[in-house]
Amino acid sequence: MKILITGASSGIGRELAKQLVKDGHAVWGVARRENLLNDLKKELGDLFFYTAGDVSMENEALKIAEEMKRNNFSPDIVFLAAGVYLDRINKEFDYEIFRKTIDINLYGSLNFVQAFLPAFLERGAGQFIALSSVAALKPTFRSISYPPSKAALGIAFRGFDLIYRNKNIIFSTIYLGPVATEIWNARKSFIVASKKYTASAIKKVMRTKKSVYYIPFWSTLISRSGFLPDSWYAALIKLFQ
Ligand SMILES: NC(=O)c1ccc[n+]([C@@H]2O[C@H](COP(=O)([O-])OP(=O)(O)OC[C@H]3O[C@@H](n4cnc5c(N)ncnc54)[C@H](OP(=O)(O)O)[C@@H]3O)[C@@H](O)[C@H]2O)c1
Repeated sequence: MKILITGASSGIGRELAKQLVKDGHAVWGVARRENLLNDLKKELGDLFFYTAGDVSMENEALKIAEEMKRNNFSPDIVFLAAGVYLDRINKEFDYEIFRKTIDINLYGSLNFVQAFLPAFLERGAGQFIALSSVAALKPTFRSISYPPSKAALGIAFRGFDLIYRNKNIIFSTIYLGPVATEIWNARKSFIVASKKYTASAIKKVMRTKKSVYYIPFWSTLISRSGFLPDSWYAALIKLFQ
């Protein structure tokens, strides 16, 4: 298969690119840090292609789609893994950080839906997979802007899925629990999953094509349960940080 991954320079997206190429798929990676994408190209060889770009810029997403078309790379699957957690700079409300987070985490995915949906509709097949977060389900003390960016992404994708599934276009949303990557600066533990485990669990989404997934099952359970008031949940999460 041919697969596009945004956020391929580090973390989950990079690990996913490695595993998919190892499985024999052709992968086109997108992220801003060209040096990291170039290193990945050296490591993965002929089945890996990339373009350095900012997913939050609508024209860049459209240009990337054009470049891929010129190179006869029509993706069967678009993985939307690019994302930022900017509240670590300032946990209090900061309008610019809020806007930038929404631009990257929400519009950075919608720009790629806009760029690739027409080709999927023409072909009558295709899958978009978005990486949302359990942070979308309940507020915490950690962040004001990240949860709404991921909540909007998830609910938008679930709406897309309702509307486009009968045209054989699948929109899958994965609500991820904590994973040991740069974004949270967290180490692997019984609560925090490894990149390797997470990428291989995410790959199964390509085969089963449900609308909504929670990965890992256990560490996302508490966020999914509705019985805890926000303040209790936030206090509990704080204990694990
Ligand atoms: N790790 C977790 O605990 C966790 C939990 C739930 C959900 N998630 C989600 O999983 C996804 C992957 O995160 P991660 O943990 O792998 O974090 P990460 O290591 O920080 O990776 C984030 C990726 O997004 C790319 N990116 C960020 N802004 C971009 C932009 N404007 N344009 C293009 N690419 C951009 C980064 O590349 P450049 O900097 O090179 O552009 C990087 O490749 C994110 O959407 C994150 O929100 C992660």
